[in-house]
Amino acid sequence: MIDHRRLRVALLGAGSVGSQVAHLLLTHAEELAERSGAELELAGIAVRDVDAPRDVDLPRELLTTDAESLIVGSDIVIELMGGIEPARTHILAALNSGADVVTGNKALLATHGAEIFDAADQVGASVSYEAAVAGAIPIIRPLKDSLAGDRIKRIFGIVNGSTNFILDKMDREGLSADEAQRIATELGYLEADPTLDLEGYDAAQKAAILASLAFHTHVSIDDVHREGIESITADMIEGARRAGFVIKLLAVCERLAAGGAEGADTADADGESISVRVYPALISRDHPLASVHGGNNAVFVEAAAAGDLMFYGAGAGGLQTASAVMGDVVSAARRHIAGGVGVGESPRQNLPTAPIGRIMTRYQVTLEVDDEPGVLARIAGILSEGGVSVATVEQTPSTDAEGRAHIVIGTHRAREQALSDTVARLQASDVVERVVSVLRVEGE
Ligand code: HSE
Repeated sequence: MIDHRRLRVALLGAGSVGSQVAHLLLTHAEELAERSGAELELAGIAVRDVDAPRDVDLPRELLTTDAESLIVGSDIVIELMGGIEPARTHILAALNSGADVVTGNKALLATHGAEIFDAADQVGASVSYEAAVAGAIPIIRPLKDSLAGDRIKRIFGIVNGSTNFILDKMDREGLSADEAQRIATELGYLEADPTLDLEGYDAAQKAAILASLAFHTHVSIDDVHREGIESITADMIEGARRAGFVIKLLAVCERLAAGGAEGADTADADGESISVRVYPALISRDHPLASVHGGNNAVFVEAAAAGDLMFYGAGAGGLQTASAVMGDVVSAARRHIAGGVGVGESPRQNLPTAPIGRIMTRYQVTLEVDDEPGVLARIAGILSEGGVSVATVEQTPSTDAEGRAHIVIGTHRAREQALSDTVARLQASDVVERVVSVLRVEGE
């Protein structure tokens, strides 16, 4: 039953997600009231420019440039402006005034999450952020609530839609990186600053948020090892295809046992650490992640009791991401009606972040060499001295006038440090003309 309370909702930002959220609040008011137990009154929408064109027509009388005044007296503040400031100041002001906050601001949470969650705890308010990671896919609440009694070993997946779109176009249509990026830009898939997507910052922010929840530890973007897709060429995609792989930009959040073996499920936390990383990697074409096409996202969660779980769906899009925001708004409204404090974070485990050199992985290395007797033996010697065991070797016959060939070496699993040191030694050796590419192999 609706208790005829009215909750004042302030919306900060009316971009592609914000304008859809405003539209849903206005057009679904009755249903939302039934579900949340109170009328949700959209008190106003703070924007930078009231005359800017928008995806959805919004009542002009709701638009204001005065976010500070709008926040005062609000029960729920929805922050969809993005960026660090003034979003951080507005969220802290909202929490300090007793409002619950709903945000999709991954950059802010990945850098100032600890400050914001502490502020919420102090006043007993809630901060919800389902929209911050993987668009429409419910992944935050499952990690925070549904799996809170389990022990997460690993999270692994595609959390950036625009780079997935680009890599997928290159793979399926044979486009160059520049052509695929141009199409992604035309379709509005890339962030206003495309380097956020292309250089892996966006995925790293999301990985930091997921790892914080999974490992009950504050993880900031500075703790995330990050490599983007700038170096991925059509030739590398084609080489991967020939070898039965596809290249995906992956986020990996992993619990490392003492000593560095991945995926430990021992109950003893002593000496454990975590690894949080984003990089392009080879995935077998048989792996379910290989069939995540276009701008979609998919996240695998490996938990000690639950086993393997997979979350899949739209990773971006105004309306799709607005769905995640609206779920948080209804929850915040229910909390407001029921009373009591908001469910805070539980970052008490404080696991240290291990350097990238400690992870275990497989490499696939492509070398350009002179096609002469003894070359392969010298390469094998360098790999053996580095303690790296070879799983596969393939040589592409020389076609160029200089008689150079490509040798593709797949390694067995080894410590990243040993692999990267060995690649450096190969690079420096006189038998290797050029290290053409180095990619990790994941998902096996
Ligand atoms: N730039 C992001 C992406 C948008 O491509 O996934 C959604 O967070």
